[in-house]
Amino acid sequence: MTKVTINTLQKMKTEGQRFAALTAYDATQAHWVSSAGVEVLLVGDSLGMVIQGNDSTVPVSLDDMVYHTRAVARGNQNGLLMADVPFMMAATVERTLEAAHALMQAGAEIIKVEGGAWLAPAIEILARNGVPVCAHLGLTPQAVNKFGGYRVQGKTDTAGEQLLADAKALEDAGADVLLVECIPAPLAKRLTAQSRVPVVGIGAGADTDGQVLVLYDMLGMNPGRNARFVRNFMADADTPQAAIAAYADAVRNRSFPAEEHSF
Ligand code: KIV
Ligand code: NA
Repeated sequence: MTKVTINTLQKMKTEGQRFAALTAYDATQAHWVSSAGVEVLLVGDSLGMVIQGNDSTVPVSLDDMVYHTRAVARGNQNGLLMADVPFMMAATVERTLEAAHALMQAGAEIIKVEGGAWLAPAIEILARNGVPVCAHLGLTPQAVNKFGGYRVQGKTDTAGEQLLADAKALEDAGADVLLVECIPAPLAKRLTAQSRVPVVGIGAGADTDGQVLVLYDMLGMNPGRNARFVRNFMADADTPQAAIAAYADAVRNRSFPAEEHSF
């Protein structure tokens, strides 16, 4: 696979080709994921849950993110390396820039930040400074305490319109990718149609340009009950590498996600 960049994702969207993304937290996983041809490797702050054993992503620090981003960068073959801005680092423009600076110097090629239209000023400055941004909307897990649990977002007409307006504002500010988590499939479909930039979904139905899952979930490594949108690709595979390849295929041929994985 040739080096994946934001242009690759943009081109795939234009051509109506689906792309795959997976989380990776260390060099070995980065090697598996990237050599299977998954386009985007996400150093997700979900590492606070699957690696650190916390109940949420709230305890994850910028230092934690930098440590794992360095490891993933070493194992990555040709994937696009995305890293999360952790909890409270987007509270001010200055903190967002500080986090982006650290993550990019650790090896990230695009940063992901949770929030709405209020992120626009930071995204404009990042764009001017050569930092690509993915804006994460819908169920933003860092806000779990504010949501009162991990709940599907954008269910009412007003909430849906708000999400579409936020996404538009972030795209206009210079966001290069949008990511939506746990929103109704019809809303994700509308968002994907209105957006010039690629839209990645998790628990957002089959109509987004790309799909993402947490690696531990799709490898069946999660000791708890999996969320509705997860499929365990290890169930029919002999090795993690084969399961990852099967996931990438299923995203490309649109057999994942199915109706049963959507809201
Ligand atoms: O941290 C993470 O793994 C994520 C994905 C669920 C999108 O943000
Ligand atoms: Na995350």
